[in-house]
Amino acid sequence: MTEQELVKIARQVQNNAYVPYSHFPVGAALLTAGGNVYTGVNVENSSYGLTVCAERNAVFKAVSEGETEFQAIAVAGNAEGFTFPCGACLQVLAEFAPQIKIIVCDTQNQTKTFSLSELLPQMFLL
Ligand code: THU
Repeated sequence: MTEQELVKIARQVQNNAYVPYSHFPVGAALLTAGGNVYTGVNVENSSYGLTVCAERNAVFKAVSEGETEFQAIAVAGNAEGFTFPCGACLQVLAEFAPQIKIIVCDTQNQTKTFSLSELLPQMFLL
C-alpha cells in the first residue's frame, strides 16, 4: 500500500463525514501492521462536545475488530494547506502506535509525512 493509495482511501471516505455543524468533513485511513485498512470520518452531534474526529473513529473501529498494531494513518480534510490531526487524536494514536507514520495531504492530495513524535514530541505514555 503506497502513501498515495492510503490518501485516496481517506479522501473517498471523507464523503461519509457527518458534519452538519462545522461543514468540515475529514476522512482517515488507518493501515495496520498486517496491511488491513480501517477508515473513519468525523461524526458530529448537536451537543457539540460529543463530536468524534475521523482519526479516533478509525482507531476505535480497528481496535474493536481486534487490531492494535498500526503502521500509518492518512488524513484528508479541506483545510487551507494541510489538515493535521488534533492533539487528542495524536494521543490516542500514541497509545497503540508511538512509531506510526502520519500522512497529511492538501486539497490537491499532495502529501507530507511525519512521525508521531514530530507532531506530539512529549507524548504521555504509562
Ligand atoms: N476534525 C477531525 O475529524 N479531525 C481532525 O484532525 C481535526 C478536526 C473534525 C472535528 C469536527 O467535526 C471538525 O473537524 C471541525 O473541527
